[in-house]
Amino acid sequence: GLSNHVEISGVRYPTDAITNVTPAILGKLPLRLHTQPGHPLSTLRSLIEAHYPDYAHLSSLSPLVTPYKNFDELSFPKDHPGRAVTDSYYVNKDMMLRTHTSAHEVEVFRAGETKWLLTADVYRRDEIDGSHYPVFHQMEGARLFSADAAGMRECEEDNARLRQQLARSDIVIEDVPHISPTNPVQPSHDPRHAELVAKNLKLSLNTLMLKLFGGVAGSSSENPLRVRWIEAYFPFTSPSFEVEVFFQGKWLEILGTGVVRQATLDTAGVANKMGWAFGLGLERIAMILYSIPDIRLFWSTDPRFLSQFEEGKITTFRPYSKYPSCFKDVSFWSPKDQPLHENDFCDLVRDVAGDIVEDVEKIDNFVHPKTGRTSMCFRINYRSMDRSLSNEEVNAIQAQVVSRLRDQLGVEIR
Ligand code: PHE
Repeated sequence: GLSNHVEISGVRYPTDAITNVTPAILGKLPLRLHTQPGHPLSTLRSLIEAHYPDYAHLSSLSPLVTPYKNFDELSFPKDHPGRAVTDSYYVNKDMMLRTHTSAHEVEVFRAGETKWLLTADVYRRDEIDGSHYPVFHQMEGARLFSADAAGMRECEEDNARLRQQLARSDIVIEDVPHISPTNPVQPSHDPRHAELVAKNLKLSLNTLMLKLFGGVAGSSSENPLRVRWIEAYFPFTSPSFEVEVFFQGKWLEILGTGVVRQATLDTAGVANKMGWAFGLGLERIAMILYSIPDIRLFWSTDPRFLSQFEEGKITTFRPYSKYPSCFKDVSFWSPKDQPLHENDFCDLVRDVAGDIVEDVEKIDNFVHPKTGRTSMCFRINYRSMDRSLSNEEVNAIQAQVVSRLRDQLGVEIR
């Protein structure tokens, strides 16, 4: 029934009008896949940590953060879409599940860390398919220099070392200017310093891409690894970039990065420093490195999945036969004046069915010309990764989806 609190690792939090965490989501918090020895996400974390041996390696920060920490401290505007209850999970108006590892930048900088990596589970409301899951894992990395001649000398020396490393390797890099009118230097930065720091971030990440993808995406002189830098925008970095890697005929977005906004460093009490930060999604990279075809597999406890992996080793996943799919459609009229958001539908389905929902597709949407009401039809693909589902079982789950749609979201089933 209705309750006025949720309990998360032994602590009770009052709920309010914007509470939208579900038991299915809260059940993921204790799992911490990135720290499970032998799990592909843990091995990938270790591999990246080994590339940055003199950095602090953090991986145990709580996913519960204030919206202030997730957004405001990082200069997100008040009306940023990421804040919407349709996009993020709220425990209540004062507490949410972090949507990115950048939420911890200020506290880690404040603790005095100047070279660090932080790995964590992050939470975003999304549609359901083979490459989207509402919980995934990110790694944040950052490096600060003192914003003076000595710091810039250290940066230049590091750049020379990294440049030599890259010169000996089979990598082709498509670059963009470090600074441009559309990707500006911050007013408080000396442009020559910002250039050096941006160079350092590019060199550092190009060597990381070579380490991660050199083996799978080409690594010979006839078939070099291709890395592409593009201009990007993040509220908490400028200039900002995205890195893409060419893999199996396509450019894949791997990470976001940039020169840290001075406001972030001021808030953290390290106004005399400047530096860079990046954030990368571990699942995306692990799916490529291990040939894992479906993002839900990371959550599987099936020995046919887990037994294929060993801590510290990248091996090619051998898919085992899939169990059959079962498709169910549901059509309904949305509540008056308020078309249902697809993410609300997906969370309800996920809450009822858990990981046996493989895919949700909106197959019809129309507005009645006279009444103005919106009709929608969704097709749910039920399939377990671990066993064969019986028809009765799927029908019972679908009946629960339908009754909760009616009771919780106020739709009229057609
Ligand atoms: N936090 C950003 C994201 O999740 C990535 C990022 C991290 C960008 C650090 C710049 C600097 O998309």
